[in-house]
Amino acid sequence: MNKLYLWGGILSVFLIGATYLAIGTTKGGLNGDIVNTLAVLGAIAIALITIWVVVKYVRQMQNDTASGELAEENWDGIGEYKNELPVGWAVSFIGTMIWGMWYFIVGYPVNAFSQIGQYNEEVKELNQKFAAKYADIKGDRLVDMGESVFLANCTVCHGINADGMDGKAANLNQRIEKKSVEYVIKHGSNNHLLGMEMPMPDRNGLFNANTGALITDAEIDTVASYVANGFQGAGADIFAGTCAGCHGPDGRGLPSVAPNIREFTTDLIANVLHHGKRGAIGKMPAINVLNKKQKEAVAAYIISLSKGE
Ligand code: HEC
Ligand code: HEC
Repeated sequence: MNKLYLWGGILSVFLIGATYLAIGTTKGGLNGDIVNTLAVLGAIAIALITIWVVVKYVRQMQNDTASGELAEENWDGIGEYKNELPVGWAVSFIGTMIWGMWYFIVGYPVNAFSQIGQYNEEVKELNQKFAAKYADIKGDRLVDMGESVFLANCTVCHGINADGMDGKAANLNQRIEKKSVEYVIKHGSNNHLLGMEMPMPDRNGLFNANTGALITDAEIDTVASYVANGFQGAGADIFAGTCAGCHGPDGRGLPSVAPNIREFTTDLIANVLHHGKRGAIGKMPAINVLNKKQKEAVAAYIISLSKGE
């Protein structure tokens, strides 16, 4: 008998014996347990097949001589045959590539379960429940809800009294501060306050129809006080001549033209939350963690503040 077969046989006996011992000591032998028996038979089959395959190929390497046409190139006398690719190898190579593309495009990563997707769906579901549950609340209850939303999301910058904490953010107890109005007139504004790109021109585009000239520093000062003081005092004529064409005669805005600068509105606040805002005081980031009802509520709260309620 060939020495290799002998070693193969010894190895088989050793592996099978070791398998039996391992199961025999930890699982109490075959014991007539069908699952144990099947496991041992499986292990024996695997051991035998492995050894048979190894022996076969080692024999082949010992005996086989390569045949075929040699390629021209050779390296220190070692050449390469121009044999066809083995069919099995070629098929699995191409198959793996096709499968890889399928997997990448329609397979696991895109369509399967994802924690982010699950989170988004649960949030959506919860928001629907929330909207249904609170659909009808209005008035004081809406303002109360808004106060909670404000305390949780806005006080870090606007302060617990919504006063802007000494100029760190806008004071929401009033529609707008004088320095903000001045800033907007001097620099223009492009904050999507109407929910769309509709910028206000800077002072080089602001004519006072009464004087027929560009707005002056003195006029800016006067009209800014007028707007910030709730449309009282001097400046009504400048407002009428320069601003009313867009913001309306009373400053309450015109749809799709200019926002209400006399009072806060639900839409304006929703737009500030959605797009963020940049102005004289600084920059407010967009805040998109609130659902529709919560935005409506926080707006109701802010509107109630600036009315002094
Ligand atoms: C050509 C139209 C137009 C004219 C004239 C105009 N505005 Fe505006 N104004 C706008 C638009 C549009 C916006 C919104 C810009 C944005 O989305 O940021 C705006 C925004 C503002 C804001 C910012 C409101 C906020 O919440 O930050 C203030 C304040 C303001 N205008 C004051 C004035 C004053 C005062 C005048 C007159 C001196 C004036 N505007 C003239 C179109 C105009
Ligand atoms: C990271 C700080 C920060 C947070 C958080 C924040 N804001 Fe602001 N907010 C600002 C700043 C700064 C301004 C002033 C921007 C300017 O006009 O210069 C501002 C301005 C505003 C304005 C004024 C808009 C106008 O037209 O004048 C409103 C309304 C507002 N915030 C509402 C809110 C609400 C509601 C929340 C909570 C959901 C909130 N903010 C959270 C910083 C913040």
